[in-house]
Amino acid sequence: MENKNRNISLEKLCEEVKKIARSTGDYLKREQAALMKNDIELKGTRNYVTYIDKEAETRLVEGLKKVLPDAGFLTEEATVAFEEKEFTWIIDPLDGTTNYVHGDSPFSVSIALMKGKETLLGVVFDPVSDQMYCATGKGEAFLNDAPLLVSSHATLENAYIGFGIPYSLDAKGETILKNAMKQFRRCSFRIKGSAALELCYVAAGVSDSYFHPGLSPWDVAAGAFILQCAGGKCTDFTGGGNYIFGREMVATNGLIHQEIMKSIIQGN
Ligand code: IPD
Ligand code: CA
Ligand code: CA
Repeated sequence: MENKNRNISLEKLCEEVKKIARSTGDYLKREQAALMKNDIELKGTRNYVTYIDKEAETRLVEGLKKVLPDAGFLTEEATVAFEEKEFTWIIDPLDGTTNYVHGDSPFSVSIALMKGKETLLGVVFDPVSDQMYCATGKGEAFLNDAPLLVSSHATLENAYIGFGIPYSLDAKGETILKNAMKQFRRCSFRIKGSAALELCYVAAGVSDSYFHPGLSPWDVAAGAFILQCAGGKCTDFTGGGNYIFGREMVATNGLIHQEIMKSIIQGN
């Protein structure tokens, strides 16, 4: 990758991003222990934020500006204004805030780099379990240093499926959750509470699928890329490619994608 200020390979860039994610994740982990009730604010019902989300984001932005000075940012806490640039960092400084404010886990730092509509790299770090997920291209997805591969489970029967409930649940989202409920006797469902990590769990072959209405680009950009590099599939609810900005995510190992679409998303 080249830009005005730096000429750097994606792999080297990824190493730098991992260092930044790790130091920010370690900050999150330390601060969780000291978090007081008064530190917690609500953006809306069930939707928490703390000074820690904002401080973590500031640290990420400062670090990432040093490695790629020309890039713009799209961040959850908007501590930096979005500007149209050739390269854009899409970051969620703390994914899993609800878990975090309740002294629970998992939670993660999520960072993706996009060039226009193409994702170039993804890093998701879970500081509690010390799991660093990253990817820089097809077949190049890793958990710490081990290559990632999706599961080979090919049917809904006995599948292990992650999902989540958005802060603003609309009628379409509610219908999908009701469709999922009809499958409760056929497969196992889990809500882990960090979309970025839950996509990585599909990439790692832990889960067979993950679906979620109403997610934002910073929740999914890195995890979706990591999953695709590990051999998985992501689509929006129509089966199309608008899953980063379209607020609709269906992620699978590829083998059960059609069945998830039919039984859970379309409810047939
Ligand atoms: C949330 C988490 C959660 C998902 C929510 C997201 P946040 O992000 O990813 O798993 O269910 O819809 O908004 O608020 O913790 O950054
Ligand atoms: Ca998030
Ligand atoms: Ca967040």
